[in-house]
Amino acid sequence: MRKAILAALTTAAILAPLGPPAFAHGSADSLREAAPRYLRIGSAVAGGGHHVDQPYPDPFPNDRQYRRVLAREFSSVSPENQMKWEFIHPARHEYNFGPADAIVAFARKNGQAVRGHTLLWHSQNPAWLQEGTFTKAELRKILKDHIFTVVGRYRGKIQQWDVANEILNENGEYRQENIFIRELGPGIVADAFRWAHQADPHAQLFLNDYGVEWPGVKVDAYATLAQQLLAQRVPLHGFASQAHLSMRYGAPDQLAGVLQRFDDLGLKTAITELDVRMDLPASGVPTAEQLATQATYYKTALDACLAVDGCNSFTIWGFTDKYSWVPVFFPSEGAATVMWDDFGKKPAYFALKKTLAEAPRRR
Ligand code: XIL
Repeated sequence: MRKAILAALTTAAILAPLGPPAFAHGSADSLREAAPRYLRIGSAVAGGGHHVDQPYPDPFPNDRQYRRVLAREFSSVSPENQMKWEFIHPARHEYNFGPADAIVAFARKNGQAVRGHTLLWHSQNPAWLQEGTFTKAELRKILKDHIFTVVGRYRGKIQQWDVANEILNENGEYRQENIFIRELGPGIVADAFRWAHQADPHAQLFLNDYGVEWPGVKVDAYATLAQQLLAQRVPLHGFASQAHLSMRYGAPDQLAGVLQRFDDLGLKTAITELDVRMDLPASGVPTAEQLATQATYYKTALDACLAVDGCNSFTIWGFTDKYSWVPVFFPSEGAATVMWDDFGKKPAYFALKKTLAEAPRRR
């Protein structure tokens, strides 16, 4: 008996230089504490967008309990809407930095990274931009000025920028709904990355999209695009899967392979907007079985990131159902986050924490 204990202790001593053993983290009382140091665990910061039409005040500035959980659980934050064009650039010659500044200040105070979201997108653009009449030269200058102004303001404070969001459709073609791509041609994507890099040389610059959780034409098109940009020495540093999952479509069991494909190109990878929605029973309350399935989806997505060397950022799109975008955008689906409205933890939360605690401390 004593011999066995001694042998175990010796093994522990030999393993010690590799960092503390996994079981030491089983008792961590937050996601960020449980996580290995190489991985940022993030959440969207609720505000703007769909929240504006909900019967509650803007969450981040008004909900203290929400902010406490956000600070305790996460080592990265993403403004859910507060850095989007319609929010931060409401009139041609007017910027609204207050809410984004508050998030960046909060992150600094709480030792959190910030993911900037987003600079080149077809959605949530202000009417002055979408409906204005501009020459090509003017439109190009509008984008350039926007990127220099916004990225420049937060220079040194943003770890990763989603420079280009959802620029390809499901057939892998450039989205013509994107005013900049439509009017200026796809070459504008490279320019956006170059301008962002000039404005903040330390930020990691990402392509970000949904519908790239399984291999297919869209993933192929992104891989081709990434290779082209890299060949032109465009400062592209990462590829991210949003990972808005639905239990209608199955677990993200091929996500690791997709991320690895971009890792093989020399890019960082990230999961940036994970949530897992489900069809709600008539009661509105998910069954135990649904919650268990949801937990495995969350875990599978996290495992994918952990399996790929350059995946250093894992973000969920909100942590409480209280503020989730899902019921607003996907009627009859919901319960997509890891906590209930009252911040009680679901099985998905515990699955993430356990997986983080058991992850290798180094890679
Ligand atoms: C969503 C926000 O969560 C909502 O508040 C807003 O009303 C609409 O946009 N892909 C993205 C995110 O890149 O910016 C979207 O966020 C969700 C889909």
